[in-house]
Amino acid sequence: MGASLIDEPLDAEPDRPTSKGQGRRAMQAVSCVIRPERLEAVKDALATLDGVGGMTVADVRGFGRQKGQVEHYRGGEYTIRFIPKVRIDLVVPAEAVGEVMAAVQRAAHTGQVGDGKLFVMEVRQALRIRTGERGAEVL
Ligand SMILES: Nc1ncnc2c1ncn2[C@@H]1O[C@H](COP(=O)(O)OP(=O)(O)OP(=O)(O)O)[C@@H](O)[C@H]1O
Ligand SMILES: [Mg+2]
Repeated sequence: MGASLIDEPLDAEPDRPTSKGQGRRAMQAVSCVIRPERLEAVKDALATLDGVGGMTVADVRGFGRQKGQVEHYRGGEYTIRFIPKVRIDLVVPAEAVGEVMAAVQRAAHTGQVGDGKLFVMEVRQALRIRTGERGAEVL
């Protein structure tokens, strides 16, 4: 593709109405850290939701407020342990975030420490590399 598709500068305020009077639809990123054994259930729950057009999954390690102690406690000296987790990242239209949060909690919950967390962040811009589309239509 020629450079024309990417020459357009990033809109500094993509969620604000533009001078043409057209607002752009807000996007939010949801980053979930869950138990690896809950991945299939969470994926299935999310994939059925309107507004979920894709997701990225990574094997990660981390600790929360127990610092890895309770989940793999074997006695002995105090060390901070990293526990294997899975991170799911998805970007969705802002209006879908509530459903995404509810679905993740339903599917990832066991009630034991270490069930994980979910963080929501604003996304300023998106680009579909193949076509040059920008904004929420990329999702
Ligand atoms: N503040 C944080 N920032 C980034 N990642 C975090 C944070 N807190 C937890 N995580 C990630 O989430 C994983 C699961 O955290 P966890 O569910 O144990 O949180 P918690 O606060 O200890 O809650 P709980 O008491 O239910 O265990 C961690 O292993 C880590 O990867
Ligand atoms: Mg914990």
